[in-house]
Amino acid sequence: MTENGSILVTGAAGQLGAVGRTVTGLLLARGLPVRAMVRREDDRAAALRAAGAEVVVGDLLEPADVLRVVRGCRRVYFGMSVSAGHLEATVLMATVARDVGVHALVNMSQMTVSQMSLQHTTPSPQQRQHWLSEQALAWSGLPVVTIRPTVFLEGFFLPLTGPSVRDRSRIELPFGRGKTSPVATADVARVIAAVLADPGPHVGQIYELTGLRSQDMDGVAREYADALNREITYTEIVYGSFRGIEKIRDIL
Ligand SMILES: NC(=O)c1ccc[n+]([C@@H]2O[C@H](COP(=O)([O-])OP(=O)(O)OC[C@H]3O[C@@H](n4cnc5c(N)ncnc54)[C@H](OP(=O)(O)O)[C@@H]3O)[C@@H](O)[C@H]2O)c1
Repeated sequence: MTENGSILVTGAAGQLGAVGRTVTGLLLARGLPVRAMVRREDDRAAALRAAGAEVVVGDLLEPADVLRVVRGCRRVYFGMSVSAGHLEATVLMATVARDVGVHALVNMSQMTVSQMSLQHTTPSPQQRQHWLSEQALAWSGLPVVTIRPTVFLEGFFLPLTGPSVRDRSRIELPFGRGKTSPVATADVARVIAAVLADPGPHVGQIYELTGLRSQDMDGVAREYADALNREITYTEIVYGSFRGIEKIRDIL
């Protein structure tokens, strides 16, 4: 596949998983030109510019902005914060990508979508948005590569567990006996950068990205205990009383 122009990375100033920011750095390190889309001019935008990216400011919910930032790019990473407008932004991106003639659209989704169907959805608005976004991208006929990670280790799972381990030697989460397999966002970004660097073999693929093993919170507590050389336990707490509930609502 011959590719010209810059690679567009949306959500490039992100700070939660910061996948877009890491992808930007990895592509620049490969010597590839990157157009980094941010929502506003700030220190994060300046850092991206200093790293060598072409920084463009825009709103993923504004059609004219999206057309302006996508135009001239053949490869696009589409990643955006968990938010109410995610589905709308996906459909807008797909509309623009079709108009512009994008050769590869790498869509950040999430692992839960692998278990969803018309008769088996979840109550999570974000999971539903990702599921519907994937449907819309499939209808679009665009050359899409789908990335479905489990919960992010850095920026998400560690902040959910680390503070109570530090302060009270306990993991305090409303996860019951549920299992998960957190994945390093650095690894997620490495996969996306590799796909964007040479999308041809990956178009149409769905990549499910996990950590090393799936385990319940007792298992995670044992890992903390081994690493810290002190007793760490898991205490299940009531879903509604969890202070980080806004963060985890989207992965439950
Ligand atoms: N967290 C997890 O465990 C997990 C696991 C699997 C999949 N995911 C998926 O990963 C995605 C988030 O990735 P991430 O954590 O790397 O992102 P992130 O660090 O939160 O960065 C997202 C970026 O999107 C930007 N953004 C939001 N709304 C925008 C808009 N309307 N126009 C332009 N930019 C906008 C934000 O800008 P500002 O910085 O200006 O707000 C932010 O820089 C979500 O789709 C989530 O479902 C997350």
